[in-house]
Amino acid sequence: MKTIQDYLNSGAIDIAPLLCSVLNKTSVELITQNGYVLTPNEKQTLDGFIKQRTDGVPFSYISGHQGFYHLDFKVDPNTLIPRPETELLIDIALDLFPDKGRPCRLLDLGTGSGIIAVTLADKNPHWVVLASDYSAGALAVAKSNDVTNRIVFLQGSWFEPINDQCFDLIISNPPYIEENDAYLQDLTYEPISALTAGKDGLNDIKIIINQAPNYLSKNGFLLLEHGFDQQDRIVKLLAENFTNIQTFKDYNAKDRAILAQVKQ
Ligand SMILES: C[S@@+](CC[C@H](N)C(=O)[O-])C[C@H]1O[C@@H](n2cnc3c(N)ncnc32)[C@H](O)[C@@H]1O
Repeated sequence: MKTIQDYLNSGAIDIAPLLCSVLNKTSVELITQNGYVLTPNEKQTLDGFIKQRTDGVPFSYISGHQGFYHLDFKVDPNTLIPRPETELLIDIALDLFPDKGRPCRLLDLGTGSGIIAVTLADKNPHWVVLASDYSAGALAVAKSNDVTNRIVFLQGSWFEPINDQCFDLIISNPPYIEENDAYLQDLTYEPISALTAGKDGLNDIKIIINQAPNYLSKNGFLLLEHGFDQQDRIVKLLAENFTNIQTFKDYNAKDRAILAQVKQ
């Protein structure tokens, strides 16, 4: 027999949120109901979760969801776990099109769990939103996260599934980590194809910058998330076909996003 308090005393990693997840209780209820004795099924599930977490599985893959902006998203090992830094892209997009009644055609490239497309579609009921990814597993998760039921999901590599359409705003948080970056050792549970982009981490960003002008409407915008040390190189890559280039820092004051308007 084990109570909530026994588990809280155990010192296991993330024990409080794991208890909340298994018992469907709030953290306040864990304290006020700390004498509750777990049923054999609850104990078995929790012990399994504790083992996974001890082995290094990220909490979001165990709980199966992650909060982002104003919504909660399902995640699984097919999808990158949404990062708080990516909320910057949402703020920039909302500032760019403040008139909620004004239609905007948005494309989210490499949608993963769908966080960018779903958040912006939910905030802007007038927007037409397309989202693509080449991972069928990620797209299945993104579709299940579409609370708006309005997003068109397409499978394929970058612009390949888009055909002749044009967009007022193209957003992407593409893979941008260098393939030999030591930091990857901490990310072994997330799909490598969502993380790395060649030796300098810029392979996918280069494809997107080169092809985006063909898919942007007059004065359309491209908004990219990128690595903290890539901003200067990306500004140079944008110079030929883009103007009004603006750079942004994340919550940790690191260079993280870039917005540019296509030249006419
Ligand atoms: C860094 S993750 C971002 C996921 C999500 N947008 C987010 O911000 O959490 C990059 C995404 O790009 C997708 N991806 C990688 N290569 C791709 C390609 N060639 N074409 C389309 N999507 C690709 C991955 O499957 C992954 O979902």
